[in-house]
Amino acid sequence: MTAAGIVGTGSALPERVITNFDLEKLVDTSDQWIAERTGIRERRQAAPRETTSTLCIQASQRALEMAGLGPHDLDIIICSTISPDMPLPSTAAFIQHGLGARNVMSFDLAAACSGFLFGVTVAEQFIRTGKARYVLVVGAELLSRFLDYKDRATCVLFGDGVAAGIIGPVEPPSGILATTMRTDGNFAEHLYIPAGGALKPASCETVRAREHYIKMKGNELFKVAVRSLEEVCRNVLEKAQITANDLDLFVPHQANQRITEAVRERLGLCTEKVFSNISRIGNTSSASIPLCLDECVRSGRIRKGHMVLTAAFGAGVTWGAALMRW
Ligand code: UT7
Repeated sequence: MTAAGIVGTGSALPERVITNFDLEKLVDTSDQWIAERTGIRERRQAAPRETTSTLCIQASQRALEMAGLGPHDLDIIICSTISPDMPLPSTAAFIQHGLGARNVMSFDLAAACSGFLFGVTVAEQFIRTGKARYVLVVGAELLSRFLDYKDRATCVLFGDGVAAGIIGPVEPPSGILATTMRTDGNFAEHLYIPAGGALKPASCETVRAREHYIKMKGNELFKVAVRSLEEVCRNVLEKAQITANDLDLFVPHQANQRITEAVRERLGLCTEKVFSNISRIGNTSSASIPLCLDECVRSGRIRKGHMVLTAAFGAGVTWGAALMRW
């Protein structure tokens, strides 16, 4: 079996910054409420000319460059997104075309905030078994296109961004050491977009009822998120037979600083070992973890040999954790 690991990362953030003060002008909220309850101070918003796939192509090119690879080295492209360019075809098809990759299997994956880790887990299997050498996994969201800027419960939380990872063969002891991924559809309506699919196709009524926007029962999700994240983190640590003390860095999905803090405390980690960029980036769903990883790798916060735990929780609900030695 070949060991698999992340051999390159890259990201693409829209330039436009939306601050909490900007949102104060749109909905009944305040910088103080948003910062205290979530840790978010600003987030990015894509310009009209930018799409999910254009940012994906930029982020992927940067990841390929870091890995020292070209598009023809890719065997598979997986795009994790809940905000695709369009329902059909996949955003992964646009990435393939934009990169000029050949003889590649490309598909989208819908697991919301856990999607990047789901993609990494799929990629790992292909590399371990020798069925593929390099897999591009992109976490991509333009959630601003799906947000109701009249709903203060959601529009203050989410931001736009894209980041990519190249998964490929690595020399042990580096590599993906353990993963655990889970889903519980019982909570599907805690975070969803009610209309625009086969269940409730788009109509004048659904548009009038603002049913094409993200709806969330945030308060109820909060408790499930903390419980679930702790469970999968413990599970992968146990699989790899290490303890939280052995970690160099914990990179959680950036949904809420209070969720991160609760999970950190339950795992018994010190604050220095937990990465957070939520104040600048907000919640970018699928893009959240790869954006963090790219920032950490480029700033030297993650270095070769580091033991890194990542964990995500999102709509579905889905959740998962992946332990890697860089
Ligand atoms: O990434 C995908 C997974 N997502 C999550 O895991 C999200 C988990 N949930 C959360 O992060 C938090 O629950 C939120 C940030 C969404 C909300 O924070 P909270 O502390 O749970 O607030 P709440 O929903 O219990 O609301 C408390 C109060 C309510 O007012 P009343 O009923 O107490 O008068 C809300 O109406 O805060 C009000 N509120 C706001 N006030 C100002 C809700 N949103 C806002 C807002 N500005 N933006």
